Amino acid sequence: MSNRLNLKPNDLSAFWMPFTANRQFKQTPRMLVSARDMHYTTDDGRKVLDGTAGLWCVNAGHCRAKITEAIQTQAAELDYAPAFQMGHPIVFDFANRLVSMAPQGMDHVFFTNSGSESVETALKIALAYHRAKGNGSRFRLIGRERGYHGVNFGGISVGGIVANRKMFGTLLTGVDHMPHTHLPGKNAFTRGEPEHGGDLADQLERIVTLHDASTVAAVIVEPVAGSTGVLIPPKGYLKRLREICDKHDILLIFDEVITGFGRLGTPFGADYFDVVPDIMTTAKGITNGVIPMGAVFVKEEIHDAFMNGPEHLIEFFHGYTYSGNPIACAAGIATLETYQEEGLLTRGAELGNYWEDALHSLKDAPYVIDIRSIGLVGAIELEPMAGQPTKRAFSAFLKAFEKGVLIRTTGDIIALSPPLIIEKGQIDEIVDCLRTVLTEVE
Ligand SMILES: Cc1ncc(COP(=O)(O)O)c(C=O)c1O
Repeated sequence: MSNRLNLKPNDLSAFWMPFTANRQFKQTPRMLVSARDMHYTTDDGRKVLDGTAGLWCVNAGHCRAKITEAIQTQAAELDYAPAFQMGHPIVFDFANRLVSMAPQGMDHVFFTNSGSESVETALKIALAYHRAKGNGSRFRLIGRERGYHGVNFGGISVGGIVANRKMFGTLLTGVDHMPHTHLPGKNAFTRGEPEHGGDLADQLERIVTLHDASTVAAVIVEPVAGSTGVLIPPKGYLKRLREICDKHDILLIFDEVITGFGRLGTPFGADYFDVVPDIMTTAKGITNGVIPMGAVFVKEEIHDAFMNGPEHLIEFFHGYTYSGNPIACAAGIATLETYQEEGLLTRGAELGNYWEDALHSLKDAPYVIDIRSIGLVGAIELEPMAGQPTKRAFSAFLKAFEKGVLIRTTGDIIALSPPLIIEKGQIDEIVDCLRTVLTEVE
């Protein structure tokens, strides 16, 4: 047992916590000190069932020995190597393994350190690709209302969550947004892809016409929008986006930071929906969340468009000090092997019906106005407290934590995304806990 278990920080003020109600937290801290498989342990020794795979990332469960050992071995052998103009074998090995499991044609991978960086990288690749092809007039980027693409300037510009954007000035210019696909009046309590709203993809055609296709570089969407509260694409929606992009030579970017690595019961969202994008952003589950890492997958044609000019020149002026860090690669390889050995990339499909039935059994619980589910993702939307949006769901989060289950809330939506190793009994535990919590919240 680590001696950190016994440490109690005596001053919580120095650390400005991300996406946190800092003052509330510091009055009543919720401290996690260790973790194993499906559970966290708190500083007061309580076990908490992880209903969110950390932040949608610990897909193989916590502190998996194979991943831990791979990190330890790599740290002792080659801790760091420069990523620019130098290489090390493990990064090439990891890239090969990744492209071999990626949707067909996504043959190259660019490493980053997070989902946000993957998004910035993808947007830059899209712009630079068109320019390399002699189409420099294609500078516009199209995102979607309620989209979440991380927190950097490109990501919040194409993103559509108001609170994440409104404080930060003019953002990128030349960005437009498609409408979101949330139609609770028509699709409430749908299991899987909703029936209504596929035609919302045609709004892309309208936006492209407005700006003229010759100015549009790329469209970016999450196959399933996660952080905004789990919005599942209506039937036919993503295929239609693909058709419109093809028609106008616009690149389609799937932000698979959440949907990548088994979350929907397939390796990627692209596999689930049978739609292959031109660029795919990933992070989180790529290393089981253990070491920060992201990867951007691109089609051969996009990569090859850069491979021009004198061979001694850098082809793409972009990269991070830690792109393809050897320890992150070691964690990534051990993670992929764990997913493969344990069949985790398709476990969401095996457990999907059970998960869905369990979640939808909460339909009659107090305040529930919608339940959405796909793969091992779920959302329970609550009626907001009059005049105090988000308060009811936040209070559900606090109560669930007290009762030993970690959930996540966004607005008045409870979002669930457990590690893919979850057992049926643990699904029941989450749902039973939520039923109790919902009878207790105001
Ligand atoms: C779809 C999507 N893109 C990007 C990000 C940002 O990832 P990170 O927090 O690793 O920067 C997230 C994080 O939740 C995400 O869900």
